[in-house]
Amino acid sequence: MGELRLKVRKTQAPTAQIRTLELVAEAGGSLPGYAAGAHIRVTLPDGSDRHYSLVNVHAAPGATRSPEAYRLGVRLEEESKGGSRFMHGLKEGDVITASMPRNDFALADTDAPVLLIAGGIGVTPLISMAAELKAKEHPFDFHYAGRSRPMLAFVDELTAIDAGKLSIHCDDEPDNSIDLKALIGQAPANAHIYVCGPRGMIEAVRETAHARGFAKDHVHFELFEAPQTETGDKAFEVEISSTGQVFTVPPGKSIIEVLEAEGVDLLYDCQRGDCGICQTTVLEGIPDHRDVILTDDERAANNVMQICVSRAKSERLVLDL
Ligand code: FES
Repeated sequence: MGELRLKVRKTQAPTAQIRTLELVAEAGGSLPGYAAGAHIRVTLPDGSDRHYSLVNVHAAPGATRSPEAYRLGVRLEEESKGGSRFMHGLKEGDVITASMPRNDFALADTDAPVLLIAGGIGVTPLISMAAELKAKEHPFDFHYAGRSRPMLAFVDELTAIDAGKLSIHCDDEPDNSIDLKALIGQAPANAHIYVCGPRGMIEAVRETAHARGFAKDHVHFELFEAPQTETGDKAFEVEISSTGQVFTVPPGKSIIEVLEAEGVDLLYDCQRGDCGICQTTVLEGIPDHRDVILTDDERAANNVMQICVSRAKSERLVLDL
């Protein structure tokens, strides 16, 4: 995959926790195009990378071709492992390395109405979608939820795209908090639903849409939350079935991080539990599922897991690797 060298042209702080960054090509000229929902992966100083959606309030139908700049929105995570802290520390003129744009969350090619649901900084990929849908005169509604209004970024931009389509929901405004059952219950039966936000919101949207009878391919989601260490997380062992090697996964590290450090070759992408690329067959042991991609039935079967985020309830897992 090609790499981009990007120079920070401008930074802004629309809220206390959120910073926006405008990035241009270090060498000048235009940048590779992308479609609404796309992201780039920014390389961090420790060599790992983080996914950030590209925000374009002027997205046109089709793709954003040869843009002059990329715009990102980055929330400073309270338990940042370094990604958001690094991004918040960038100054104008700094240069970073990033992947080419990639899109795992594209708008479906359909005339069906669209329901966009954003939680917090999960708003970023949906902004470009709203702008593109508006430009195409495609029917859509945008619901944006957060803890309180001062914590919500990009409200002015979304209002400018189409104030009439935007509904803001805040936890500290009891009459105005988001009611997913009502929203999804009132959505047209052929609607496509796009949700981006924390794990609980995605799970609630998926369950509600499923109960309402929406087909799986009408519910699109992208997780916007770094994997969290949970209270009570313990170390567990992973056995690689092909070699018999056994490794210990401590709290705060993923199976992927441990196996990669030991030289095991793995396929993965999002590292958040929403793309399914790292899905691995479990031959023995009980996973502790922390992804948003498996259905309740798939979780209960316990025969596959996403090794980027999920852990173990048993002392050892034997994986088909
Ligand atoms: S890498 Fe995407 S679900 Fe694990």
